[in-house]
Amino acid sequence: MIELTTRWLGLDLRSPLVVGASPLTDDVGALRACVDAGAGAVVMHSLFEEQLVAEQMAAHRFIDSRINMDAEARSFFPESEVFEMGSGSYLKRLERLRSTLDVPVIASLNGISPGGWTLHARELQDAGADAIELNLYDLATDPAETAVTLEQRQQEVVRSVVGQVSIPVSVKLSPFYSALPAFVAGVEAAGAHGLVLFNRFYQPDMDLDALTLSRELVLSSSAELPLRLHAVATLFNRTGLEMAVSGGVHTGDDAAKAILSGGTVVQVVSALLAEGPQALARISDAMNRRLSTMGYRTVAEARGALSLDNAPDSKAWERLNYARLLQGWR
Ligand SMILES: Cc1cc2nc3c(=O)[nH]c(=O)nc-3n(C[C@H](O)[C@H](O)[C@H](O)COP(=O)(O)O)c2cc1C
Repeated sequence: MIELTTRWLGLDLRSPLVVGASPLTDDVGALRACVDAGAGAVVMHSLFEEQLVAEQMAAHRFIDSRINMDAEARSFFPESEVFEMGSGSYLKRLERLRSTLDVPVIASLNGISPGGWTLHARELQDAGADAIELNLYDLATDPAETAVTLEQRQQEVVRSVVGQVSIPVSVKLSPFYSALPAFVAGVEAAGAHGLVLFNRFYQPDMDLDALTLSRELVLSSSAELPLRLHAVATLFNRTGLEMAVSGGVHTGDDAAKAILSGGTVVQVVSALLAEGPQALARISDAMNRRLSTMGYRTVAEARGALSLDNAPDSKAWERLNYARLLQGWR
């Protein structure tokens, strides 16, 4: 079996597998079980800019928690009241997790405009957060705002949060940037220490009978992973930022691929919500077996082995491969 210890954002983790931001924050027992199952760190669900600006929970509803899970799986999911937590309760929860869990606890902020709300980053640090994950979940809907303006605004948010704290800050991005590597360089220049790739883009469907939008939150599948692998593989060695893969990790092979593409840590959410904390042990065992069968002795050795710079057939990550693939299709 291979050595799993990993350094992420300057923190020593015993495993690269991390519980991603989710309502599991609200269930200390489940988080403890994830840690017992081998998680190297946990990320709390987000405190939202809107929440902090208004500090008025009723004003903010994240998403109806009507999830496509069976009744048993549903019991792992602490329903939506978790999103109604104000910053006071969030800080208390953070302190509790910090004193209960013997792995790093990463707090999460979610916002898109520079402003006073970013001062709360300091409170998270004072409450014991080992790091902050800043989620830039942004939806461009204004035709008058250009990509340049939007990206500069986002980088300003990063700078503003980083400026409040001495703990490391990672930045969670959406996949939709025209020039991701250049944007990432800006995030690095703004003082961030790591990237979390990617946010899932929650897209309302339509209920044609009711002529309304249906806001169901569908858990991910492994099909969402390749988008992440591609981004991480192409950024590996081309950014000074460490990378976490988030999205579509359900099996040990998924986690192994995330590491081989260049990920330092691998976040898991949907698998835990669907299956419970034992998913962590299952993924960890299988990832470990896979990487050790490949001959690696540590996760660090495996990291980036199939990245754009290192893969033997690395052209497969590039445009030319796309042209060949389309021409060769039968
Ligand atoms: C119910 C639910 C709640 C989530 N809440 C947050 C959140 O508060 N902040 C955040 O950054 N991401 C949140 N996420 C996104 C996850 O952290 C993760 O990025 C995403 O689910 C992809 O990982 P997965 O494929 O392992 O589920 C949430 C996801 C789910 C399913």
